[in-house]
Amino acid sequence: MPDTFTITDNRTGKSVEVPIVDGGISSKGLRELDPAMYVYDPAYMQTAACRSAITFIDGDEGILRYRGYPIEQLAEKSNYLEVAYLLIHGELPSKVQLDKWTFDITHHTFIHESVRKRFLEGFHYDAHPMGMLVSALAALSTFYPDAKDIFNEDSQKKQVLRLIAKIPTLAAACHRFSVGQPFVYPDNTLSFPANFLQMMWKIGDNYEPHPNLVRALDILFILHADHEQNCGSTAMRTIGSSQSDPYSSAAGAAAALYGPLHGGANEAVVRMLTEIETIENVPAFLDAVKGGKGEKLMGFGHRVYKNYDPRAKIIKKTAYDVFEVTGMNPLLDIALKLEEAALSDDYFIKRKLYPNVDFYSGLIYQAMGFPMEMFTVLFAIPRMSGWLAQWLELINDPEQKISRPRQLYVGASERDYVPIEGR
Ligand code: ACO
Repeated sequence: MPDTFTITDNRTGKSVEVPIVDGGISSKGLRELDPAMYVYDPAYMQTAACRSAITFIDGDEGILRYRGYPIEQLAEKSNYLEVAYLLIHGELPSKVQLDKWTFDITHHTFIHESVRKRFLEGFHYDAHPMGMLVSALAALSTFYPDAKDIFNEDSQKKQVLRLIAKIPTLAAACHRFSVGQPFVYPDNTLSFPANFLQMMWKIGDNYEPHPNLVRALDILFILHADHEQNCGSTAMRTIGSSQSDPYSSAAGAAAALYGPLHGGANEAVVRMLTEIETIENVPAFLDAVKGGKGEKLMGFGHRVYKNYDPRAKIIKKTAYDVFEVTGMNPLLDIALKLEEAALSDDYFIKRKLYPNVDFYSGLIYQAMGFPMEMFTVLFAIPRMSGWLAQWLELINDPEQKISRPRQLYVGASERDYVPIEGR
């Protein structure tokens, strides 16, 4: 006998008993009681929009698992492409499967010459690379019309490979264009992260990424690969629910990620630390945040984590491996002081505000030489595998229909139109 939840309509005295399944109750119970009664939940704080077997988060305990595997183990022992396979297929690959997956991804890294020459190079010289990336992802749908066949398994597989493989090439191309440098072709003899680094920075034949930096980037890619129903994945699913092709859906997801409250936060963190300037200014900055004058402590707080974000812990550790190669990022001292002060301050303790994934990632990216405008792009590269896992789950889920929330109408009641002369 499952546990149940009783909903009573006090106006009529009628009740329905709704079974609790997988930790939630179906809205059907409420509909049964009164089909015109809606749950008002503007930011989906209490709404589960899907069943998902991809990522598990326990925000109170600070736990994150992909397909059951703890993020700490994956970050320590795996690599991004293996994790992408896991997210997409649901299981870890055998050696043969991983070799084939890696080969296939590696051999889809090239982008169509027209995407680069006609499309990317058509942007204004100072275009933000994330804006370029969002548009380029949408444009790809016109280059691969077979992507419209979304229920065809072969087509699904092909688009998944293409999107995971091409996003680093697009990302690097956006950067090179925005700094006026020529495009660098993928070098498919390199690993996924090393290939991306050489497309970013190769000049002539003399660029060889340091192994610590390659590994750090791979870890950051693993940590950012999926995070269940965040704003970007919800955009992916919402657009995908109308049976749009995966490129158009991924462009929408990337657009959601662009915002400073989501993937744009790492860029905002570095700007904030730069503005704070010295550790002596930390108390005054925190006072301004607590004064509620619109200032936020960027890189702190999370809708789900009410404890230390497990990804932030791993990133903090990884930062030191990077700084060993690049030298210390001078903003680190300010970040450490901010963290220490905030974690012992009542305002932050009461609201359970802890560092999130973005608090330290920007510092690593900056130390590695990435310009700030690239930070969100760096988030989008690995998140592509998560978006696609969410998309595949959605389109193969018989319970899913087109996303279409309801509203509580609070506008004017019916009134007659008055022609302009009479107003
Ligand atoms: N600095 C100061 N106060 C904060 C912060 C912060 N970073 N985050 C939340 N609060 C306060 C809110 O003002 C609110 O206070 P109140 O109860 O007195 O009104 C309380 O904490 C609860 O915050 P909400 O805004 O209701 O929390 P919500 O779940 O809606 O927001 C969010 C989560 C958007 C991440 C928020 O914490 C935030 O804006 N953080 C800074 C931006 C950031 O780092 N974003 C990256 C998130 S991780 C990611 O997307 C990859």
